[in-house]
Amino acid sequence: GSDTEQWIRQPIVVVLGHVDHGKTTLLDKIRGTAVAKKEPGEITQHVGASMVPASVLKKVTEPLRKFFPRLTVDIPGILFIDTPGHELFSNLRRRGGSVADLALLVVDVVEGFQKQTYEALNILKEKRVPFVVVANKIDRVEGWVSKPDSSFLESLKSQSQRALAKLDERIYVIVSKLYEQGFEADRFDRVRDFRKTVAVVPVSAKTGEGIPELLALITGLVQQFMKKRLVTKNEPAKGVVLEVKEEPGFGTTVDAVIFDGVLKRGDTIVLAGKNGPIVTKIRALLMPRPLQDMRMHEGAFTLIDQVVAAAGVKISAANLDDALAGSPIYVVPSDEVLGEVVKAVREEVSEIIVRGSGNGVVVKADTLGTLEALTSALKQMNIPVRIADVGPVTQNDVLEASIVGKTAPEYKVVLAFNVKVLPEAKSLAERENVNILYHNVIYQLLEELDKWVKEVRT
Ligand code: GTP
Ligand code: MG
Repeated sequence: GSDTEQWIRQPIVVVLGHVDHGKTTLLDKIRGTAVAKKEPGEITQHVGASMVPASVLKKVTEPLRKFFPRLTVDIPGILFIDTPGHELFSNLRRRGGSVADLALLVVDVVEGFQKQTYEALNILKEKRVPFVVVANKIDRVEGWVSKPDSSFLESLKSQSQRALAKLDERIYVIVSKLYEQGFEADRFDRVRDFRKTVAVVPVSAKTGEGIPELLALITGLVQQFMKKRLVTKNEPAKGVVLEVKEEPGFGTTVDAVIFDGVLKRGDTIVLAGKNGPIVTKIRALLMPRPLQDMRMHEGAFTLIDQVVAAAGVKISAANLDDALAGSPIYVVPSDEVLGEVVKAVREEVSEIIVRGSGNGVVVKADTLGTLEALTSALKQMNIPVRIADVGPVTQNDVLEASIVGKTAPEYKVVLAFNVKVLPEAKSLAERENVNILYHNVIYQLLEELDKWVKEVRT
C-alpha cells in the first residue's frame, strides 16, 4: 500500500480474572468453536495471543441474527491475550494507559468475586480500560440444562423457571459487588446504555453457551465506541514488551504486542533496559508455527519479514538480556531521529523508575509494568516513594529505608513485589529493624503497607 494507507486494526482484548475461573478454557472454547465451524487455520496463534478473524466472528455470531438483525462485523478480527496472572496485564502498559483496548473480567458465577477478581478490577479502574464481565460456568447453576454451543438467548428458552431464578440470583450477587466497587452493571440483554453500564454476559466455557453473545458484544462495543482508537497506519511500529524469554537457538528474545504500525525485520528499535535504553536491530521476527505444520527439526517458530498491528510476535535481536518487561518498543525510522527516540524511552522510564532522596518508601518489583502499577497505587494512597526500581531487594535498598526511618519511621519500609530479597539485605534489615513487606498480590501488599503506616502513626 501507499504511505498514507490507514486501516482499523483488531482490538486487543485481554482476559483477566481469579485463578481457575475459566480464562484459558474460555479462549480454548472460542478457538474450538471456530474449528468446529470448519474454519481451521483461520484462528492464527500469535506469540502470547490468539487472533480470531472477522470470518469466524461472522460465523459464530450468525445464530444471533434473528435477535439482532443489524449485527455486522466491520473489524478485521479480535486479538485475545490470556493472562495467567495479573503481571502480564500490568506489562501491557502504555504511557498513560494500557495497550488493552478492552478486557474480559472472568468471574465463576458460582464462586463469585474472589481476591484476584478485585485485584483485576482495581487495575482496570486505574488504567481506565473498559471491560465486560463474563459470568462463567453457568452450566453449574442449580437445575441448568445445558444446550451445548447454542447462544445464551437460545439456551434460556429451554431452562426451568427455577434455573433462571438461580442464575439471576448469582448474577445479582456479581452486580452488587460491582456496585460496591463503583460500577453500575447488569445482564447484557438488559443494558440500555453501554457507556454507563457494565455488561455481564453469562457463558459456559465448557459447553459454549453464551459465546456467540460474548463475541457479538465485544464486536459491537468496539465498533460503536472505539473505532478512532483502532486507526493505524503504514508507519514505524509501536509496541510493548510482554515478557523477556530465553529461546533455544535465539538467545534472549522479547515477546511483544504491536499495537500500532508495521514492524519489519531489520528495523532498529529502542526499548528500556535495566541500565538505560537499549538500541538494537531486529535479527528475526518469530511467530508460532501452526500445529499442522510442525515437523521434526524445524522448531516451534516460523520466521517472518514483518507484522502489521495488532499482533503478538517474538523479537530476536542482540543485547536483549537486560530488557525490561513492560517496556515500550519504538522503531527508529531513520538515523537522524535515533537520539529523539532514545530520549522518549528514557523519559517514559523515568516516570516509573525513581531514584530520589526524599522521605518515602522503597519499592522493588519484577517488571516495569508491575512497578508502575505499584507506584501509581502509592500515589493514590498519598504515600511518597524514595526509590522505585526493578530487581531484587539489595543491601542498598535496606540502607535507604533505614535512612528514611530516622526522620519518617512510618516509611521505614521496603515493598517487594515478585522479587527476591538478597540474603545480606535480609540480615541488614534485621539489624536495622527495616520492615520488608513481601507479597505477590499487589493490592494485598498495599493493604499491609497501609496497616503498617497507620500503626506507626498512632
Ligand atoms: P488460571 O490460568 O490458573 O488462572 O485459571 P483459568 O482462569 O485459566 O481457568 P481454567 O480455564 O484453567 O479453568 C479452571 C477449571 O475450571 C478447569 O478445570 C476447567 O475445566 C473448569 N472450567 C472452566 N470453565 C468452565 C465452565 O464453564 N464450566 C465448568 N463446569 N467448568 C469450567
Ligand atoms: Mg489459565
